[in-house]
Amino acid sequence: MIKTFIKRILNWGSPDKYVRELHEKKGYLEAYAAHTDARVAEGDAKRAIGGSWEKMGPLQFDFLVKNGLLPEHKMLDIGCGTLRGGMHFVKYLNPGNYTGFDISAEAIKFGKELVLKEGLGEKKPNLVVSEKMNLKFEEFGGQTFDFFLAQSVLTHLPPEPIEECFANIGKLMHANSVFFFTYFGGDRYRHFSIEDFCYPFAHFESLGKEYGFSVRDRSDDYPHLIGQKMMEVRKL
Ligand SMILES: C[S@@+](CC[C@H](N)C(=O)[O-])C[C@H]1O[C@@H](n2cnc3c(N)ncnc32)[C@H](O)[C@@H]1O
Repeated sequence: MIKTFIKRILNWGSPDKYVRELHEKKGYLEAYAAHTDARVAEGDAKRAIGGSWEKMGPLQFDFLVKNGLLPEHKMLDIGCGTLRGGMHFVKYLNPGNYTGFDISAEAIKFGKELVLKEGLGEKKPNLVVSEKMNLKFEEFGGQTFDFFLAQSVLTHLPPEPIEECFANIGKLMHANSVFFFTYFGGDRYRHFSIEDFCYPFAHFESLGKEYGFSVRDRSDDYPHLIGQKMMEVRKL
């Protein structure tokens, strides 16, 4: 971690080179987590996960509430980062009902500190580092959640972890659970920058068919600042 941080400082003027080197040396998710870790450790935890806290936090929160999220519901925030949306959900949900997990240990550490700083300790959010960096959800075995959200997460994922997510998330869903995620749309799959991917709707439609979900485009109800699309996934 300290080594990564120092390297990042040394590469201050050429952030792309630093990120490219990380990705040459490590597997994709490991490199992405190291990149997020370093950015959070640099002290700008808000920009590390995409910035725009004032707009992107309420946007996620309002959308889920409009779609039926109640304080008694249990929610899993997949790739919760430094709690840009998470803080709104922690405040709103009953104690113990918010779970956030992330591959970045620094983001989770920051989130835990923020919860205490904001006097929300009694809300007892469950903030978990995804040690194995996969989307098999083994950490949550035996639990079900009413709402799932992955905001700005699949936008940064190659096809394999996305398929892993579709293959496993059903274990945590009951008949009325709903999974919302954002993605970059495109007419075909493209890995268009080091940590950004776009997919056509049909990609998720075929994953839905394979793993037993309906998928529905909800982008008209989700005015994302840079045009990420919103998808609703339910068990068939
Ligand atoms: C752009 S940030 C968005 C954070 C948060 N959802 C928000 O909207 O503020 C993406 C986050 O997803 C996390 N992430 C990416 N892939 C993940 C995975 N497979 N499992 C868990 N977290 C992941 C990253 O570490 C990062 O913190």
